[in-house]
Amino acid sequence: TRVAVLISGTGTNLQALMEQVKKPSSSAEIVMVISNRPGVMGLKRASMAGIQTRVVDHKLYGSRAEFDGTIDKVLEEFGVELVCLAGFMRILTGPFVRKWSGKMLNIHPSLLPSFKGVNAQKQALQAGVRVTGCTVHFVAEEVDAGAIVVQEAVPILVTDTEDSLSERIREAEHRAFPAALELVGSGAVKLRDDGRIDPEQY
Ligand code: GRF
Repeated sequence: TRVAVLISGTGTNLQALMEQVKKPSSSAEIVMVISNRPGVMGLKRASMAGIQTRVVDHKLYGSRAEFDGTIDKVLEEFGVELVCLAGFMRILTGPFVRKWSGKMLNIHPSLLPSFKGVNAQKQALQAGVRVTGCTVHFVAEEVDAGAIVVQEAVPILVTDTEDSLSERIREAEHRAFPAALELVGSGAVKLRDDGRIDPEQY
């Protein structure tokens, strides 16, 4: 499966995905990395791995539709079959999400549906929960609401700060996202037309 990874920053999830697809057992290859911001560490990681990169800078587009359209063109040009949003900090438009329905995954640093939106780690800390985690899900038009593929639980320690908790969640992300990539990339897990995943697929 030809995979594109979309990033906006450090790219530690990208790094985990790149390491996963190098395994002989992997059913995926990363053929493109797109960042909406220039000069980020994730682009260096991709280049060092010999993966082609593009910067599609959202500030240069008059509308979200034009920005998404440019991304879509790159994906088509490279014959991409599966898109992984790895710390990609842009909301994608309905038409783009619908086109890539069932072929686009996102990672979120909480156990959805709890703590949707930004600073999910801080929300969990402030809510006083003792367990949080990360979620890899199919991207749906509603933000952070698509069918869940993989989750991993992470304990919250009494000594935790937003940083220490975020670091522990990120370690879980680096296991969960590669696992989800293989499940979807191998065809083992598919999104049904009703937006749900077949339970017997697990
Ligand atoms: C991760 O915390 C992820 O949950 C969130 O953005 C961050 C991406 O980090 N969506 P990185 O760029 O993969 O290191």
